[in-house]
Amino acid sequence: LSPVLSSVIRGPALLPIIQADTPDEAVAIAKALADGGVGSVEVVLRTRQALAAVTAIRSALPDLLVGAGTVLSAADANACKDAGAQFLVSPASTPKLLEAMIATGLPFAPGVATPSEIAMAYEYGLTEVKFFPAHLSGGIEMLKALRGVFQQVRFCPTGGISQHNLADFLALPNVFVAGGSWLTPANLVKTQQWGQISELASAASAIARQLKT
Ligand code: 3PG
Repeated sequence: LSPVLSSVIRGPALLPIIQADTPDEAVAIAKALADGGVGSVEVVLRTRQALAAVTAIRSALPDLLVGAGTVLSAADANACKDAGAQFLVSPASTPKLLEAMIATGLPFAPGVATPSEIAMAYEYGLTEVKFFPAHLSGGIEMLKALRGVFQQVRFCPTGGISQHNLADFLALPNVFVAGGSWLTPANLVKTQQWGQISELASAASAIARQLKT
């Protein structure tokens, strides 16, 4: 099995999403995040240029860890690896998708929202998963309940994470990193307010550094 995602995450325990229309825009967002102390980013496969964005960020900002998210198929997983993605994230888990992500040899976090999905991932030897959509799937209380039964499993919650609840999520011992789009709001990207994105990132980095070492 590939190394676990937590062992390769760089910087504070944050995994901000980058959704960009062009590779240049992706690099600008990534740079703004890095200026705010972020060390790891997830480029989501929700725009046509997402794969090109992964490649562009890797080359422009070699110190950043660059992963790909919204991986939905074996073809996605392989294309992300070819584009230079250093880890994979998916919103969901099926046996086929898990097998495809394992086959890439990359660290990855498959999406789960229920005990059965966690158990399925665990059957594949996976102990780190993405909890999505975190807020709608029970949030903090659900993660606490899951900790009782899945004592070896650690989570990357995403979906509804913000500056207001980041500390509550990161304070949980079974959370290893928190992800989401709150550091890269579409309106700031559209208006190229990179300084504001850096400020959001820097506030979140401070919280993450305090709660996870
Ligand atoms: C994801 O892909 O993890 C989600 O889109 C993140 O959800 P958010 O936009 O609520 O942060």
